[in-house]
Amino acid sequence: MARLSWGMIGGGDGSQIGPAHRLAAAVDGAFEFTAGALDHRPDAGRAFGRALGLRPDRAYGSWQEMLEGETHRPDRCDLVTVATPNATHFPIARAFLKAGFHVLCEKPMTMSVEEGEEIVRLARETGRICAVNYGYTGYALVRQMRAMVTRGDLGRIRLVVAEFAHGHHADAADADNPRVRWRYDPAQAGVSAQFADCGIHALHMASFVTGQEVESLSADIVSCIESRVLEDDAQVNFRMTGGTVGRLWTSSVAIGRQHGLTIQVFGEKGGLRWAQEQPNQLYWMPLGRRLEVIERGEAGLYPEAARASRVTVGHAEGMPLAFANIYRDLAEAIRARSEDRAPDPAADLFPRAEDGLRSMAAVYAVAESGRDAGRWVDARPPMFR
Ligand code: NAI
Repeated sequence: MARLSWGMIGGGDGSQIGPAHRLAAAVDGAFEFTAGALDHRPDAGRAFGRALGLRPDRAYGSWQEMLEGETHRPDRCDLVTVATPNATHFPIARAFLKAGFHVLCEKPMTMSVEEGEEIVRLARETGRICAVNYGYTGYALVRQMRAMVTRGDLGRIRLVVAEFAHGHHADAADADNPRVRWRYDPAQAGVSAQFADCGIHALHMASFVTGQEVESLSADIVSCIESRVLEDDAQVNFRMTGGTVGRLWTSSVAIGRQHGLTIQVFGEKGGLRWAQEQPNQLYWMPLGRRLEVIERGEAGLYPEAARASRVTVGHAEGMPLAFANIYRDLAEAIRARSEDRAPDPAADLFPRAEDGLRSMAAVYAVAESGRDAGRWVDARPPMFR
């Protein structure tokens, strides 16, 4: 199958979310990274694009330049990801949709409801996809939750309880740090800070797992750090289209909480609980029976969850990233040799043939010792003795 051509706007060197997109798009080999306008500084964006392997004529200095350059190419991007700061999502997504590109936009998709409606209308009119990166719905066991609810395993859903509460903006002394301050400034963040940043992930997940939409809500929002205009904590009660009652807590001042995304669903026949920090286990509490732990990757998951379980049962979700570090170390080692320099010591950690040999010697030593009532034997390979 021919690879699809993929372009990216934002996600420049040092950005938080750029590497995750590049990794995610590359995993299946379905997309080839072919074009990018990666940084708000044109030269830095071009240079970083080239460093990532883009052809010079497709490593653009701005999204406008990329739109111009890609629109009329016969091999133009099939999908464009928008991973820039929030206020730029709308103009970029709108321009690329209008030009007929499929788009994957970071959240929040826009800064206002009107802009959001325009994007929905445009996607419908042009027949192009506009996806939004509520990426945590990609976890296998979140899909299992949704599948169990859809199949009626929990009966009618009475309650959904979602949290996205972390403590990373809890230090009042750091509230003026420019990297933190803009998030609570209405001129840059819009009408909401913590809810628009994290709460919407939790709210979307409540809809995703229940299959219902939010109809009405009541919010208690507060700036625990008084100098902040916008909220750093919110408790939201809501009602859903299927009658489910929703509760949501989001916070950036919950000291000690790290990522803090959790979702619980309670139906007539049982409850489910999942947390992003332990994504491999889904807790299933059937009415009148004991707690069961459903493991990602185990047999018997619903097909939606089985398809999303890419790592063998028992391995952590992030296991392929550990492999990726081996590949990255190897790339550094190969480059260092061809450039006749010492490799970065922090990268010089990949296991060597010597480690493979030591393992083999250990295997034989274990077998020999085991055959001989646990006698102590030399575990070193002969060439290292
Ligand atoms: P960041 O500030 O770390 O990086 C933003 C990048 O965009 C930088 O490389 C910057 O140079 C580039 N950029 C800024 N304006 C640009 C423009 N006009 N054209 C081209 N490049 C431009 O930001 P971060 O944390 O990576 O967030 C980016 C977006 O991703 C935000 O909307 C944020 O809400 C979202 N996000 C989503 C997450 C998720 O779980 N879905 C997690 C973290 C962030």
